[in-house]
Amino acid sequence: MKHYLAGKDYLGLLYYTSEQMNELIEIAQDLKRKWVMGEPHAYLRDKAYAMVFEKKSTRTRNSFHAAATALGAQSFYLRPDELQTSRGESIADTGRILDRYFDGLYIRTFGQEIVEEFAQNMKHPVINALTALEHPCQALCDLLTIKEKKGDFKGVKICYAGDVYNVCNSLLLGATMFGMDMSIAAPKGYDVPPVIWERALKQAEVSGSKIEVTQNFDQALRGADVVYGNTWHSMGENEEEKDKRIKDWMPYQINSSAMTKADKNAVFMHCLPGYIGEDMTEDVKEGPQSVIFDQGENRMHAVKAILVATTIRS
Ligand code: CP
Ligand code: NVA
Repeated sequence: MKHYLAGKDYLGLLYYTSEQMNELIEIAQDLKRKWVMGEPHAYLRDKAYAMVFEKKSTRTRNSFHAAATALGAQSFYLRPDELQTSRGESIADTGRILDRYFDGLYIRTFGQEIVEEFAQNMKHPVINALTALEHPCQALCDLLTIKEKKGDFKGVKICYAGDVYNVCNSLLLGATMFGMDMSIAAPKGYDVPPVIWERALKQAEVSGSKIEVTQNFDQALRGADVVYGNTWHSMGENEEEKDKRIKDWMPYQINSSAMTKADKNAVFMHCLPGYIGEDMTEDVKEGPQSVIFDQGENRMHAVKAILVATTIRS
């Protein structure tokens, strides 16, 4: 049986090395090639995965169903309001029980400590499908997409403009693992959490990445090879601040004027969903530089790689 570098779980890039992430990118590339060529790749036949989503999802949830099916596995969606956790059963006991039935758990929830507690109580892999701290399945997809569109990571500059939150945190960790520069354009008061920033700085020292959080959007856009957007109001945790956030962030909208300030060969990426007239404009979304649907497809190839590497390793 092949030995993969992946850990038991995939809780975030904070817990992974650049070697482990690089291997996941290579597995995803191989699985994508097989999918494109119509070659069977049912490496996880007879496996069964549980999925719990405490927040809404189109890409993360459905790409997992498609990925598991193509790998020969089954995925079962467990509604949070139908689990006994909704009546107070502990995470530890829920994890211990699900571990007896399933080959892994894919979970979208609030705090990072929730996925960590499941992982501590399960022998099978726990995969983070988004928490407040990280969106690591998105980050693997983003690395795969940047590699496809730009050929290599060396010399690539990312300008990120959107909520400084899960997607941004994981992308920053991914960028600094591979020597990419990343300028995060954000209004005053929106900052990267210290645990992420400190790790990113350490990785940047090794890889040579230059990173910054700046209020100067033009500076962040200058020379950018990737312009990356995200919503300004993330699910479930800061939505009550929506009106304030729209006002704060409007100067950071990714529109055609912003795109002209980036490198002329820049691609436009977005984790989606985005909000037209807020974080992006229709002409950029549908324009020639947009790669958002190729990126969205890559969610499926990325999660296949995560499933194969964590399951076969475990
Ligand atoms: N990008 C992303 O995670 O999308 P969903 O919320 O639709 O899963
Ligand atoms: N930052 C966003 C990402 C959605 C994919 C959120 O947490 O809602």
